Amino acid sequence: MLPAFFLLAVACSACYALDNGVALTPPMGWSTWNTLACDYDEGDLREIADIMVKTGLTKLGYVYFNIDDCWEDGRDANGRLRYNATQFPSGMHGWGQHLHSLGMKFGIYTSSGQYTCSGFEGSWGHEFEDAQTFADWEVDFMKLDCCNTSVEMKNVSYPKWSKALNATGRPIVYSCDTDELIGIFPWTNEERPWDWAPPVCNMWRTWKDIKPYWWSWTMNLAFNIETWDLLDLSTIAKPGAFNDPDMLEVGVGEMTYEESKSHFSLWAMMAAPLILGNDLRHMTTETLDIITNAEVIAIDQDPLGRQGRRVLQGIDSDIYAKPLVGGAIAVALWNKVDYPVDITLNWSDLGFAPAKTMALRDLWAHRDLGPHTQSYTAKAVAPTGVVVLKLSPVPGQPPLHHLLLST
Ligand code: GLA
Repeated sequence: MLPAFFLLAVACSACYALDNGVALTPPMGWSTWNTLACDYDEGDLREIADIMVKTGLTKLGYVYFNIDDCWEDGRDANGRLRYNATQFPSGMHGWGQHLHSLGMKFGIYTSSGQYTCSGFEGSWGHEFEDAQTFADWEVDFMKLDCCNTSVEMKNVSYPKWSKALNATGRPIVYSCDTDELIGIFPWTNEERPWDWAPPVCNMWRTWKDIKPYWWSWTMNLAFNIETWDLLDLSTIAKPGAFNDPDMLEVGVGEMTYEESKSHFSLWAMMAAPLILGNDLRHMTTETLDIITNAEVIAIDQDPLGRQGRRVLQGIDSDIYAKPLVGGAIAVALWNKVDYPVDITLNWSDLGFAPAKTMALRDLWAHRDLGPHTQSYTAKAVAPTGVVVLKLSPVPGQPPLHHLLLST
């Protein structure tokens, strides 16, 4: 008998990606782009995939192993997209099967233009054919970039690919890299992917590529997240459809431990896809500690699939809150400046009466803080650092998150 998804897809070849039943929580994995860019081959990737298994990253949920740009090698005589056979001696299908044998999933990249963003063969005019090639290779995740076409054509390509992927009958996470559509000030932008992407893509980019440097952290990583509040994107994310502030830069470039920890925590608070970008072969213990914090990952992967939002904006610190399943709330107390600050969460910031009792846990210290009423102050939060708390209802009290869920 044919699997249910196959029947659905055949009956519904015009359906969009959201009917694909995947990415019910934000996808987690690793991608070649942020560190290796175009400088990789199958040997490098085998080493990295092995490390993902050995370090327990796959068990924590990092299962998508994504080849970004630079694997393409023109088309064969039948017009079929070719991979670089020197780079991938096992072939793309062989590589996908290897990943599957490790319990991982196979991610790939293409661009809607004639050429990709790094100048390799793109998929323009070959959407249905290339989607079928990817399905034949047993691909589980596809990132569509949008270099080298006009804005009009980009707007045509995203929904077209959505239908093309669904028409294959294989559930493939559809990641729309819409960064080329977005200007420097996304709130003045005419092209607003978040308005049309939820029924089309499983995840879509909300701004430009992020970079792993301090100037970028203030100008870019943090700005990216703050923009989401300006645009009020928190109500858009849901299981199967997530805003994407770009792949993680933890362990890449010159970011400090505290910056990296804040970066990871904010991505988790915003229900962002957690796609690692560091070279796992040269990883510090600090980096491994950050990316393997199961308690923070659980915030990102919460089955409600709700995105957090800023509940308090201060001069030197911000507070973010995210509703969780079972009536709990995650709260991030984020120090945005380069000196230590005390950060106080008042119950009123969450819309609760001061007398309400809540059980608190610190998810970076891995420590229960006990029951609290009225407020909680995190003392001397490190420069650019963060404290992430989980607030749970105490027995006999109603769930805590009605205020956040109702917005
Ligand atoms: C664009 C994307 C990046 C990466 C490169 C590849 O810049 O935004 O994430 O995929 O293209 O060329």
